[in-house]
Amino acid sequence: MANGDPAAGKEQDNYLRGMPNIQRLNRRQFLALGASGTSVLFLGQCMAGQSRSQLPVAPTHTSSIEGLLDVSLDARYEAINIAGRQAYLYSYNGQIPGPQLEAKPDDTVRIRFNNSLSNPTNIHYHGLHVPPTGNADNVFLSIPNGESLTYEFTIPDNHPGGLFYYHPHRHGFVAEQVFGGLGSMFVIRGDLDQIPEVKAAKEEFLFLKDFALDANGRVPPPWHMDLMWGREGQLVTVNGQVNPSISIPQGGLLRLRLLNASNARFYRLTLEEHPFYLIATDGIAIDEPVELRELLLAPGERADILVQGDREPGQYRLLDLPYSRGQMGMMGPGMMRPGMMGRGRMGPGRVGQADTGGPRTLATLNYSGQVEAIPLPQQLIPVEALPEPQTVRQFTLNHSMVPRMGMVFLINGKTFDHRRIDTQVPLNTVEDWEVINTGVMDHPFHLHTNPFQVMSRNGQPEPYRAWKDVVLIRPGEAVRLRARFKDFPGKTVYHCHILDHEELGMMGIIEMTA
Ligand code: C2O
Ligand code: CU
Repeated sequence: MANGDPAAGKEQDNYLRGMPNIQRLNRRQFLALGASGTSVLFLGQCMAGQSRSQLPVAPTHTSSIEGLLDVSLDARYEAINIAGRQAYLYSYNGQIPGPQLEAKPDDTVRIRFNNSLSNPTNIHYHGLHVPPTGNADNVFLSIPNGESLTYEFTIPDNHPGGLFYYHPHRHGFVAEQVFGGLGSMFVIRGDLDQIPEVKAAKEEFLFLKDFALDANGRVPPPWHMDLMWGREGQLVTVNGQVNPSISIPQGGLLRLRLLNASNARFYRLTLEEHPFYLIATDGIAIDEPVELRELLLAPGERADILVQGDREPGQYRLLDLPYSRGQMGMMGPGMMRPGMMGRGRMGPGRVGQADTGGPRTLATLNYSGQVEAIPLPQQLIPVEALPEPQTVRQFTLNHSMVPRMGMVFLINGKTFDHRRIDTQVPLNTVEDWEVINTGVMDHPFHLHTNPFQVMSRNGQPEPYRAWKDVVLIRPGEAVRLRARFKDFPGKTVYHCHILDHEELGMMGIIEMTA
């Protein structure tokens, strides 16, 4: 039994209010059900009128046809098969990851969305440069349970190709819905796909996502500490599978398109005996390949890497190396409530801090077949240099204990308020944002609608120019970003992409004014 922690406090109660009925049973109800045949009752409630879905080996693709991407998405909660076991999860159309969407610049996107969850939700098109208003990438929309909405927007004709990410963004429910399984890839085809060597590479999409499941295949309610750290699960999957096999022809190139779709888990990736050649960051191409031994992906981040099939044919593991996201001990005495001390791990197989064990195998690379050797590309797509900023702003990230509320996460000393505009930016201007982490945990900072370039970290210039929409800010770091706000007026948000931190306040509203 994972809930019923008396120390978990009020914020957990608030959290549970947002959960589907099946998860809101308190301990006494659960015991009462146990006496009358728990499993039968649970199955009856969850399976009624729903069919079990089988996870496809690769995510299903839906591509635009003659300039229109027309797709129906249904957010639901049901029993599905994940990593070979049955689990009760949230999904789009019964699939985890959800249907992979593909469009081209100038296409119209029409998503007929239906909310079959028992809570409100919406969809955010993470990384896409489309309007943050109307029925487009509008995170202020709320689609009540049982209702539908058709999203419709056009991909600008000069939109860069790349790997983007759609996931729920209804404040108050984001962390729970993403942790429970909602999200998938949104691919824009473009220039990078046309570079001959990239085109010749074998393309694989890797949707990295962890799950926490109890013995009955249900997501346990979070503990207080889970929310502070951000929820992690011990079932770590790639496209909903544990350690799938990826093949590479000898001599060939493999293009891995990676997305960290986890709430809070970071992936520190390395491939045995094979360097990575980074070709795109947060979906968008860089100037030329950058050789890396390892790649760290924070939640919401994406990367495209090339792997050369130039080693002895065999099997090589794609590993996730240990990574520490911060120092819980430094959070101060107020952090540990009576009853939480000494518990060690917080519930069944959860909490990232405890998970600093050895490397974990995410997938296995298998040599199979042979092709004429494909060289690495020399040049990719030029990343333009942004002009000097008109304005420089500072954003300080931290957390604090508030009596009766528990831990809150702050930007410039404030928690999120949907009625407050924190930052007003005139359209068609360039700004530098200095984002400073004065706390003790890593915070991946994300801005909607317009990508940015990281100019420096603690005064040190970045080694290469790249577009990003999430950047990791470690404790003690000051990171300078440069963004150009263009094309779309309206309100949107910036926030920490550890989604529990976002829910606990680490989000602000930006208004772009024409
Ligand atoms: Cu991927 Cu505002 O989020
Ligand atoms: Cu954070």
